Amino acid sequence: MPPKPVLIAQISDLHIKPPGSLAYGRVDTAAALERCVAALNEFLPRPDFVVISGDLADTPTVEEYEYLKLLLAPLQLPFAGIPGNHDSREMMRAAFPLFPYASASGPLDQRVEIGGLDLVLLDSSVHGKPHGELEASSLQWLDATLASAPQRPALLFLHHPPFVTGIWHMDRQNLLNAAELADVVKRHPRVQRIATGHVHRATLTMFSGVAATICPAPNHAVDLDLAKLREPSFRVEPPAFHLHAWFPGEGFGHLVTHQVPIGNFDGPYPFFGADGKLL
Ligand SMILES: [Fe+2]
Repeated sequence: MPPKPVLIAQISDLHIKPPGSLAYGRVDTAAALERCVAALNEFLPRPDFVVISGDLADTPTVEEYEYLKLLLAPLQLPFAGIPGNHDSREMMRAAFPLFPYASASGPLDQRVEIGGLDLVLLDSSVHGKPHGELEASSLQWLDATLASAPQRPALLFLHHPPFVTGIWHMDRQNLLNAAELADVVKRHPRVQRIATGHVHRATLTMFSGVAATICPAPNHAVDLDLAKLREPSFRVEPPAFHLHAWFPGEGFGHLVTHQVPIGNFDGPYPFFGADGKLL
């Protein structure tokens, strides 16, 4: 039997509104989060940690964070989160005072040690703006944090993708100073994944020599419009989360990212009968 991998679940872009309100007049983001929390609780083997990669609230308001806490209360797994462009640093810090913030004020950067793995959570939010930018203090903290344990594999999480997706209205609000992040990442081979959100759909590319992902959302998806055919739009597509599975081994071990759909699906059914023959 192979050893159990370290499992890091990533959920993103929860967009919680006040109770009874729908996002964009259509999407029940609270019900979507309830289904997501149920899926996380049911998943076996149990994930070791959950990272929420931004846009926890929608407006944001204190009431939304209170409702979010209520919706997250049934979650049976430890978690931390970073702000997205729909969040407020101050409101988030007040709502979740126990997250392991690296500093007492400013960006909500965090480092979480899970088994042999470091999770490095970066705050790319810019007050009142949809785009992302890492502050100089965050970049310095990232560089120092990565330098402090060069042998441990690290997963980087931030809300804004540091790359273009081809979706025009999202690409103008991605991480503005991506080149500065690339410079830091280049210096630290222990970075094994750059995991982001913001676009509400699963995406994979390379960034500064590292596989970089966007996590799908539990609610709505940004319309995959690669030729500016429509005004900015969303679709209600199958909801999902990401599961980063790290297998210890030579060097930095092996990290694989799975997409886990949220919902009730037929199965699982066995491939083989009691006689060992294919059914
Ligand atoms: Fe966002």
